[in-house]
Amino acid sequence: MTELENVLMDSLFSGFFVNLDATALLLFIVVFILTADYIKNRRLTGFPPGPTALPIVGNIFTLDHKRTHESMTELAGRYGDVYSLRMGQRWVVVLNGFEAVTQALVTQGDSFSDRPVPLITNTYRLIKYNGNTWKQQRRFALSTLKYFGFGKKSLEPVILEEFTYVAKEISAYKGKPFNPHLIVNNTVANIICLLVFGHRFEYGDEQFKKLMKLFEQSFEAQVSVSAELYNAFPKLMRRLPGPHQKFMRIIEELKDFVRTEVKDHKQKWDPSDLRDYIDYNLNEIQTDDSTFDEECLIMSVLDLFAAGSETTSTTLRWALLFMVKYPEIQERVQAEIDSVIGQSRPPSVDDRADLPYTDAVIHEVQRMGNIVPLNLPHVTNRDVHLRGYTIPKGVTIIPNLTSVLFDKREWKTPFTFNPGHFLNEEGKFVKPAAFIPFSAGKRLCLGENLARMELFLFFTSFMQRFTFSMPPGVKPVLDYRFGITLSPVHYEICAKQRHE
Ligand code: HEM
Ligand SMILES: *[C@@H]1O[C@H](CO)[C@@H](O)[C@H](O)[C@H]1NC(C)=O
Ligand SMILES: *[C@@H]1O[C@H](CO)[C@@H](O)[C@H](O)[C@H]1NC(C)=O
Repeated sequence: MTELENVLMDSLFSGFFVNLDATALLLFIVVFILTADYIKNRRLTGFPPGPTALPIVGNIFTLDHKRTHESMTELAGRYGDVYSLRMGQRWVVVLNGFEAVTQALVTQGDSFSDRPVPLITNTYRLIKYNGNTWKQQRRFALSTLKYFGFGKKSLEPVILEEFTYVAKEISAYKGKPFNPHLIVNNTVANIICLLVFGHRFEYGDEQFKKLMKLFEQSFEAQVSVSAELYNAFPKLMRRLPGPHQKFMRIIEELKDFVRTEVKDHKQKWDPSDLRDYIDYNLNEIQTDDSTFDEECLIMSVLDLFAAGSETTSTTLRWALLFMVKYPEIQERVQAEIDSVIGQSRPPSVDDRADLPYTDAVIHEVQRMGNIVPLNLPHVTNRDVHLRGYTIPKGVTIIPNLTSVLFDKREWKTPFTFNPGHFLNEEGKFVKPAAFIPFSAGKRLCLGENLARMELFLFFTSFMQRFTFSMPPGVKPVLDYRFGITLSPVHYEICAKQRHE
């Protein structure tokens, strides 16, 4: 659409139309757009099948936006595991089921590893970037996460310490109902703060509250319709008011926040003692011939927050909810923890191998929680053949994770919470190949190891210390809300200390 838009904008602003009256002008524009739209957007031969698209908007109205990830069951049924839709001016191919998804993301990983890059911000260097910059930044982020997560500077003690603050907050409710959302949000965000800034914040700290507020607002603005429009018509939208302007202001404020931290780090920087992600980056910026600069550093820090807080927080809230829904499973987890770890020491990631049932429960929470139901979008970077179809370069790909995590061909009881999915006959932990909540292939979640460590340490700590239940007379509801992630509807919970 951008070329078409260019022609239109140029004509409008160069005064080409001054001599036409308004009706003629409008008519001209409409015919022009419809014709261009038709020529540009025909479904090519060999392209995956799908429902007929309207001019301009395509299949936007075919979908129920509140339940996008499941509103198309019927389409998948009618058109098969690979089908196409037109979202406005973009062609989208949806992949359903374990086989189609892994054939694309893993077997043909090179062709499917790019991301459609939205124009609204140039912010995303790790999440929404391609080519060399993405490769370098990703490789670097991975090695830093490895260093600070599991190497010499393990995050384990840091996570366990953070738990002591959470436990204090929760104990203060003395068994009375509370909404765990804010507490869990703060906890998980602090782990990212520790990783990138090298320090945590008190939950009541004004700076911290401001940071959390900004992230919340940026997420809200990002999913708004005007952001979609911005991506489709950047030149036009840049001149118009609307929530997308607010979004860009919020991003600037977030960048300022990180910039202040970077300045601080520079003053105390010591190459022989790299304390955190920012220190590590500053080290890299010294060497020429790299894509590293301060702007890039700031962006990738924001990316780690964006990708690493909400996801982990939502998963933990699902975990608590499933435990109150299935108290017998909670009891079994606690019994396993009591017998392997006991009460006198905190858990450690080394305990994982001895806690197969607990591990299975965490995996089942992730499978059923299904928090990134349609994955992040990918885009083909060359013409590809997939399952008998031809998909040209530049087509958006939606690898439907829901269809893999609930694939009837892969799971015994796909729609029932069943830790048995991850246990063999001897009760040992096993991980089926279709367990891909972090996706698969070249774009695989960069924070998977950190997320797994956080989920394990926080979950076992919760279970070791507290027993969770619904407030008296309230039934747990497993319904979900669709936002940035698929998250449980708001709930209140009671936490009883297990031991004094
Ligand atoms: C339970 C927690 C998490 C889940 C379920 C999750 C899931 C995902 C998924 C599905 C993707 C998209 C993969 C694809 O496009 O194929 C992704 C990407 C990403 N995740 Fe996570 N994630 C989690 C936690 C984290 C954490 C803790 C961090 C960072 C510290 C993180 C950083 C990232 C980044 C940077 C990307 C973009 C990678 C790229 O485009 O190359 N994630 N994640
Ligand atoms: C994704 O998979 C789920 C489960 O199979 C299905 O209900 C939903 O319609 C699929 N979504 C799309 C966009 O095809
Ligand atoms: C938790 O964080 C998410 C993402 O920033 C936000 O949408 C949500 O409102 C927050 N919830 C609370 C209770 O702070």
